[in-house]
Amino acid sequence: MSNRGHLAIFGASGHGKVVADIAMQTGWREVTFFDDAWPDKSCLEHWPVRGGMAVLLNQLSQFDGVMVAIGHNAVRQAKLETLARADARLVTLVHPRATVSPLARLGAGTVVVAGAVINAFAELGMGTIVNTSATVGHDCRFGPGVHVGPGANVAGDVAVGRGSWIGVGAAVRQGVTIGEGVMVGAGAAVVADIADGLTVAGVPARPLAQENATARDDPAVGRRRLGLASPQGRS
Ligand SMILES: CC(C)(COP(=O)(O)OP(=O)(O)OC[C@H]1O[C@@H](n2cnc3c(N)ncnc32)[C@H](O)[C@@H]1OP(=O)(O)O)[C@@H](O)C(=O)NCCC(=O)NCCS
Repeated sequence: MSNRGHLAIFGASGHGKVVADIAMQTGWREVTFFDDAWPDKSCLEHWPVRGGMAVLLNQLSQFDGVMVAIGHNAVRQAKLETLARADARLVTLVHPRATVSPLARLGAGTVVVAGAVINAFAELGMGTIVNTSATVGHDCRFGPGVHVGPGANVAGDVAVGRGSWIGVGAAVRQGVTIGEGVMVGAGAAVVADIADGLTVAGVPARPLAQENATARDDPAVGRRRLGLASPQGRS
């Protein structure tokens, strides 16, 4: 349990404001930002930006905890790994009006935003974001660097691979596996497993990404890749 004195947040952005707000609401007394856009960016609202990653690494001993607040999953993960290698005291932040089961496990550097719910035996990897009013069902297993967008609902027993993003308002059926580096579009309904690297959208979710142009042009191909029956019941 860390002493909630002075928190360093790497990433002086919109998401950084949300993270700083949660820190203040959970008793951290002081927040200082770091960002590689320093010195061009020297403050975020009323919080100071003191330097980039090199400065933060030099000053780690001055802070009681460190957090990374970067929306881009791969970048957030890389920064967290850099800080973990330097033995930074990575914290997790849970908004006072989020509900996290004591039986759930949150990886270091995870942030749970207002209204979110995380149910029993969910295991979230390092640097997960569970955004505003999102839900994560029982027994979910997330790799590092996953982001569950605002209002998205992930049902129980869902596996999500490293760096995947569940878009705002999406729904994920129980028991499915979402691969690594997947982007689930806003409002999508994921009802079948999704392979690594795909961007999917719609109800039910189908591939959108360039590499899946054929699937996009031919809905039957997309349906087969996702293991869905064709509208006519043949695939
Ligand atoms: C799915 C997504 C990643 C696609 O982004 P993109 O590759 O830039 O795609 P485009 O905006 O160029 O749209 C390509 C096509 O997909 C459609 N499309 C895009 N997003 C869609 C969605 N969520 N659902 C259904 N169709 C979608 C577009 O209408 C467009 O169709 P068209 O080719 O027939 O005109 C993006 O639209 C999205 O939903 N992002 C999630 C954002 C989010 O959750 N933000 C939370 C911030 S905390």
